[in-house]
Amino acid sequence: MTLIDGKKLSKKIESNITAEVKALKAKGVTPGLAVILVGDDPASHTYVTMKNKSCENAGFYSIVRKLSKTVSQEEIIKNIQELNKDPKIDGILVQLPLPKHIDTSKILEIIDPQKDVDGFHPYNMGRVVENLDAFAPCTPAGVMEIFKEYNIDLKGKDVCVVGASNIVGKPMAALLLNANATVTITHIFTKDLASHTKKADIVIVGVGVPGLIKEDMVKEGAIVIDIGINRLENGKLVGDVDFENVSKKCSYITPVPGGVGPMTIAMLLSNTLKAAKRRVG
Ligand code: GUN
Repeated sequence: MTLIDGKKLSKKIESNITAEVKALKAKGVTPGLAVILVGDDPASHTYVTMKNKSCENAGFYSIVRKLSKTVSQEEIIKNIQELNKDPKIDGILVQLPLPKHIDTSKILEIIDPQKDVDGFHPYNMGRVVENLDAFAPCTPAGVMEIFKEYNIDLKGKDVCVVGASNIVGKPMAALLLNANATVTITHIFTKDLASHTKKADIVIVGVGVPGLIKEDMVKEGAIVIDIGINRLENGKLVGDVDFENVSKKCSYITPVPGGVGPMTIAMLLSNTLKAAKRRVG
């Protein structure tokens, strides 16, 4: 069994990005990322702090606009419109989830697609589906980097994606399809989850249910990618896979923490650098 080291891979990617940023800065160009953080969800605050820190380490210009949980939709839109026009900002990220009174789709559509480094705007999502150059959502893009690094060929492989969210499952399936895998997406209404995961060469899960994937749900030698990040009552961070038992059957598996999580941030930096390079041509 090979334990996939997302931390190590993300560090390698981030150090390449840091070197590129240095060269860009010498030409007077500094990539800039703006994050909009609404409300006081502790997990969102933690993620945003981590993103911000990684940006600064890579030499980016990085700002966070913190808005109250009672902020109006119009106020969020106004902030995005300002950032759309701001020449120092190459990438705009609205941390999700947003409070219930906000229409998330409407907010994401206000972001200039050329600054949409999270890849959640329908313009980029559509281009990902059509296998055109685009900002691909960071978590699925990070999973694809893992496959590349570990020489895992996807052509003709049976891949089961567990979870059909707009930010993970759907774009993940599109990227896998573009790499010629045979993709099944399961979700909350799937009748018999195990019947799908058991057949798969690769299982990718991101639903936020600790221990959902058990050892009798994966075949011998399967590759298991765990996108879940769940904090248990005892404070322990775990994924959606029963790691201890499932790992015994796997050829490759990602741990939580230290698997896909750090790759998401590396891809955010990569997308922001790409946006800055596009700006200067
Ligand atoms: N919330 C959970 N994951 C993500 C992500 O990748 N981007 C944003 N903006 N919000 C998230």
